[in-house]
Amino acid sequence: MKPIKVGLLGIGTVGSGTFNVLKRNQLEITRRAGRSIEIAMVADLNVERARELTNGECEVVNDANLVVSNPDIDIVIELIGGYGIAKDLVMKAIANGKHVVTANKALLATHGNEIFKAAEEKGVMVAFEAAVAGGIPIIKALREGLTANRIQWIAGIINGTTNFILSEMRDKGLDFSAVLKQAQELGYAEADPTFDIEGVDAAHKATIMASIAYGIPMQFDKAHVEGITKLQASDIRYAEELGYRIKLLGISKRTEAGIELRVHPTLIPEKRLIANVEGAMNAVLVHGDAVGATLYYGKGAGSEPTASAVIADLVDITRLATADPEHRVPYLAFQSNSLSDLPVLPMAEIVTSYYLRMHVADKPGVLADVTRILADLTISIDAMLQKEPAEGETQTDIIILTHQTKEKNIVAAIEKIEKLDSVFGAVTKLRLEELS
Ligand code: HSE
Repeated sequence: MKPIKVGLLGIGTVGSGTFNVLKRNQLEITRRAGRSIEIAMVADLNVERARELTNGECEVVNDANLVVSNPDIDIVIELIGGYGIAKDLVMKAIANGKHVVTANKALLATHGNEIFKAAEEKGVMVAFEAAVAGGIPIIKALREGLTANRIQWIAGIINGTTNFILSEMRDKGLDFSAVLKQAQELGYAEADPTFDIEGVDAAHKATIMASIAYGIPMQFDKAHVEGITKLQASDIRYAEELGYRIKLLGISKRTEAGIELRVHPTLIPEKRLIANVEGAMNAVLVHGDAVGATLYYGKGAGSEPTASAVIADLVDITRLATADPEHRVPYLAFQSNSLSDLPVLPMAEIVTSYYLRMHVADKPGVLADVTRILADLTISIDAMLQKEPAEGETQTDIIILTHQTKEKNIVAAIEKIEKLDSVFGAVTKLRLEELS
């Protein structure tokens, strides 16, 4: 059978990994795909470097339009990133009848609905294993492996940069800004790490997973996005004293009222496997009604780990290229005419447990005032920690862990607590998930 021809847009870290792994494992991959997969064309602004990387083995151009309009190309791999030119090229490739493989989570989380609609109309596949958690086959697991289940919740460490920073903060007792600087010097964090540290990258990935887990359209605009920039070393320490680790989690949950979709620093019990995922590694915990909890762990970024996911998509497309579109796996796991209109809930309506830290006067009645406010709002206390004031000090920290309650109750309680004369400054609020 003649090879399937691939056009690669962007030969940076992931692109060159894809080129190399495809070449190195060509025989094995052909045996699996049933047909050889050949990168026939590469588009990159740095043509010279692209030629060097591809050893003259394929055509190199600097205009990506030449790839998406080439009638010989069957599959376009988009590794440009962002939503500008990448979106135009993906839409053009689809309009020209090409299948698309992309690692672009930002593009799918924000424009996925439009892209999948166009692809469906044209009868082409859009595959995106590399968009979430790099080399971990989490899209495959959610769309196919767990297809028998009603997925109940997902909690993932899906950003390696922030997990590296949190691990370092805990290990060395350092504050966020000191570790970020170190991470940038070591090349673990981008020069502009905004999307990573503000939780945006994780929210893109959580949005994609929620969509295929619950069969809802992509709704990144409804996700709650909170990063790790305000996290203090003292909260990591106090959490640890109470038996918890703090991780930046991408969480989605199915509830009667709708879907919770949120990214924020989260306390999780230190005995959970996922609490022990350190450094730049990723892990995703998925709970299905039939299977229970399942955990997926691996490298969430990097040249060959991400290439592993890109090539898995190439093989899937190659196998299914001649199948009728209705016999392929639906883009969002559920048939496109069976998507649910279950709403994504506003944060005020989500239900979880909380960690509260407040700085108070060490005198009789303070704790009673605080607990009265919590009781009046039917918030039940799970655990408490009061630190001895430092020598000569008359103020101290109180840390309270609550049982589950609605976010709007906690917000109301904090507003009242902050008005107490014996409470100084703002109350720090972190969310806590037992993940049991
Ligand atoms: N910047 C991401 C991370 C990898 O730090 O995990 C690509 O999504």
